[in-house]
Amino acid sequence: MNEVIEIIGSALWFILPAYFANATPVVLGGRQPLDGGRCLGDGRRIFGDGKTVRGFVAGIVAGTVIGVLQGIAKGSFSHYFSLGFLLALGALLGDLMGSFIKRRLGIERGGALPGLDQLGFVIIALLLASLVEVPRWQAIIAIFMITPALHLATNFIGYKLKLKSRPY
Ligand code: CTP
Ligand code: MG
Repeated sequence: MNEVIEIIGSALWFILPAYFANATPVVLGGRQPLDGGRCLGDGRRIFGDGKTVRGFVAGIVAGTVIGVLQGIAKGSFSHYFSLGFLLALGALLGDLMGSFIKRRLGIERGGALPGLDQLGFVIIALLLASLVEVPRWQAIIAIFMITPALHLATNFIGYKLKLKSRPY
């Protein structure tokens, strides 16, 4: 039991910058879309209006700041700085890839693609972070089990706070 709690704790500690990077754009997102309003040959937007320049930058900064704070707490600045930046960048790129795939499937901005919506950002975040650190496999399993529930819960809270137009 104690071991399970310890794994969950270390998993959340590791992935925390990705969570902040993913959540910040909901609050700090702007208007200028990353794709500049452009469509691909299929007539659909590259990413759509839900992916903005300001959201992208704000997410990377927020996740990196969390990494810096973790580094200060642990006394290992450069490791956590790199980790925070890579997790944040990965989270935003993963989120962007998700929107790209959704548009290609004809799912409009804000439409759901269960699975990808909850885990896409975390998969790419872990991939980029692996350049610096690979968590033990138990922690990776924990991240994949916890993230969908946490993502749905925080999105529901964001919806109730009228930050988001949809509850997922
Ligand atoms: N957001 C942003 N910039 C980003 C990512 C997100 O501004 N790079 C903001 C947008 O206001 C977006 C909100 O965060 O509406 C929630 O993000 P998400 O659910 O990923 O976007 P959706 O609007 O659902 O669009 P999509 O269907 O493309 O996922
Ligand atoms: Mg969405």
